[in-house]
Amino acid sequence: MQVKELPTVRFVYLDNNATTPVHPQVLERYLSCCREQWGNPSSIHWAGRESRGALETAREQVARFCGSDSSEVIFTSGGTEADNLAIKGVAAASLRRGRHIITTAVEHPAVLASCLTLEQQGYEITRLTVDSLGMIDLNRLEAAITPETILISAMYANNETGVIFPVAAIGALAARHRIPFHCDGVQAAGWLPLNCRDLGVGLLSLSGHKLQAPKGVGALIARAGVRLHPILHGGAQERNRRAGTENLPAIVAFGEACALIAFSREGDSQRVRLLRDRLERGILLLWPGALVNGHPLERLPNTVNISFPGARVDTLLASLDLLGIAASSGAACSSGTVRHSPVLAAMGISPETAGASVRFSLGRDTVAEDIEYVLELLPAIRERLTVDPTRGS
Ligand SMILES: Cc1ncc(COP(=O)(O)O)c(C=O)c1O
Repeated sequence: MQVKELPTVRFVYLDNNATTPVHPQVLERYLSCCREQWGNPSSIHWAGRESRGALETAREQVARFCGSDSSEVIFTSGGTEADNLAIKGVAAASLRRGRHIITTAVEHPAVLASCLTLEQQGYEITRLTVDSLGMIDLNRLEAAITPETILISAMYANNETGVIFPVAAIGALAARHRIPFHCDGVQAAGWLPLNCRDLGVGLLSLSGHKLQAPKGVGALIARAGVRLHPILHGGAQERNRRAGTENLPAIVAFGEACALIAFSREGDSQRVRLLRDRLERGILLLWPGALVNGHPLERLPNTVNISFPGARVDTLLASLDLLGIAASSGAACSSGTVRHSPVLAAMGISPETAGASVRFSLGRDTVAEDIEYVLELLPAIRERLTVDPTRGS
């Protein structure tokens, strides 16, 4: 028997939509803040003033990153809190206007669960479905608006498939009807142009750890004129919109990450798109019947979600992991069971196909050798995992 030698294990990280490694320059800024700006930004003495200065610089960096004014930046503990603040904060501030919110069936759980909580309190929630490519229908969105509608919440790009929604068109529609538009920009921010003004976005959620900053920091941009009540109560931080002493080292690191990405985003997107396309084409060639889930063009340049017929996602991910390749499923695994992805289900993808789907999300550190390594190993993985019905048992 001829034994083909496997290449030595290489650690390939293709799960950047889950989190990204911290950029060395961002880490350095985090550490220098711990060393030098350890005062409480609310204190009026020299130590506090030093920290306040760092906080405001970070605020300006984030504002510049997304085309807002620095007074519109509210630092949060991450994307989840930003989504909660946008949805619950607008709801609480709009009690006299109405109790209807429009969102989509494929939002991140931070949006869907916030809406569900409000639904349980008597709000009416419209969850727009998507087509087989993961796209929403703007006519349906407009038709769902009622005089009671207080918020439209739709993501910029989907975390599981990378599908990009027509955010500028949604923004224009929302403006025509004078309804605030919340956009979860957590996954898009690293790869797509992001200007709140141009996009007509009234509220924008961001998360640091998707942008090579540490975990536990993010922001909600709340444009002037959008009425918002706080959901965390206590001190007067963040202009009374988010109580609690600021996580300053993480915030200044986040500001630094935004400045770095604003500078390199376009070039990074072009480079990573070529690598992603090479991976996608290679998989489709090497795995007969493999299918890409999501829009072929309106998709983040770093993301591909693929169904591998004949494989089971848990064993496929385990095989990849054994060879040093980190990817993830479109399904959340808990206590050994796989819950099928609501995103893929909303696209009409069968449970069997969804149960054989893997998301590869590339990052700024991904290089061509990483992609070639995956493609080199794939035929052996396929041979091991797929059952040939003609072979018998
Ligand atoms: C689209 C989207 N929104 C929100 C979040 C939540 O962000 P965080 O992890 O910072 O709470 C995520 C994280 O995966 C996400 O992908």
